[in-house]
Amino acid sequence: MERTARNIRYDKAAEALYIIDQTLLPAQEREIRLETAEQMYDAIRLLRVRGAPAIGICAAYCLYALARTIDAPDMEGFLEQLKAYSAYLNSSRPTAVNLSWALSAQLETAAAHRAEGREAVLEALYEKAVEIHEDDMAKCKAISEYGLSLLKEGDGVLTHCNAGPLATSRYGTAQGPFLLAAERGMKLRVFADETRPLLQGARLTSYELQKGGVDVTLICDNMASLVMKNGWVQACFVGCDRVAANGDTANKIGTSGVAILAKHYGIPVYVLGPTSTIDMACPDGDHIPIELRDEEEIKTLWYEKPMALPEVKCYNPAFDVTDHALITAIVTEKGICYPPFTESLAALFAKG
Ligand code: MRU
Repeated sequence: MERTARNIRYDKAAEALYIIDQTLLPAQEREIRLETAEQMYDAIRLLRVRGAPAIGICAAYCLYALARTIDAPDMEGFLEQLKAYSAYLNSSRPTAVNLSWALSAQLETAAAHRAEGREAVLEALYEKAVEIHEDDMAKCKAISEYGLSLLKEGDGVLTHCNAGPLATSRYGTAQGPFLLAAERGMKLRVFADETRPLLQGARLTSYELQKGGVDVTLICDNMASLVMKNGWVQACFVGCDRVAANGDTANKIGTSGVAILAKHYGIPVYVLGPTSTIDMACPDGDHIPIELRDEEEIKTLWYEKPMALPEVKCYNPAFDVTDHALITAIVTEKGICYPPFTESLAALFAKG
């Protein structure tokens, strides 16, 4: 299997970490190099790299790259500094559990190899980052296969935000089945919500699906209801940033609205994501931290002229929680979980 995918690339010979700056898409597909802790924090915070699995993969490489720069007299000091870098990166975004999951995996890796010395710890950190990256590729492929098994030729599917290759490693989660279908010559009609306010659906999903040969139609978020009423949608496929043990799911703001509309029109809602996005320590959606972002994202960010007076107050939560009762199934790399999710998710983790 290839060792890197293009949205996040670690060049081992040059010991250099690159990401595609997603904020420049679709106008420019440009790689940027991340060298300092501040650049890494900003890349995650400002969504240059985004999407729950991609954030986790990137953070794993970041911690390895930062570990290489630690100049501590002993292992104790080295691990202390590594923990401090991990806490700093972890504070960049609160909702996607993959970030803390990948950073914890790296800290555990370092601790497990501490007796072997600094070089062995560094090597283990690099190998772990590659493993997280390659595992995600395999998981996305499996999720895409399971997701595609829920669709049939000619189906219309509505999706929200971006959960394609840019948000993961390859294929993606919620958008992986569409790319897989296109590869196999199976025809689907995908409706991509533009996903206000940061327009991941317009800038990233329609870009990836169009380039991947998928029949994609971009709609504004407030058109989803009409598209469903017209009978053009047979299923909704959405990604996830954190799934609680009872199935409540945090995903991009607007996802719960899509699920509520879908219930009205009798359309199934599938959440697709790797098990690394399921937080069994989190009992329900009320315990998921929701990121609040800058009001300028609503008022000025994508516009030539301000869209509101500077003094107008804005509320800009980046995610909402879709109640488990609105979710038809949760599709993971290990299989498809149906309600009651408290039982089916627990059974999934019990399998190991
Ligand atoms: O704020 P973002 O763009 O990082 O939010 C991303 C999403 O909500 C995605 O749907 C989710 O991370 C799944 S990515 C496979």
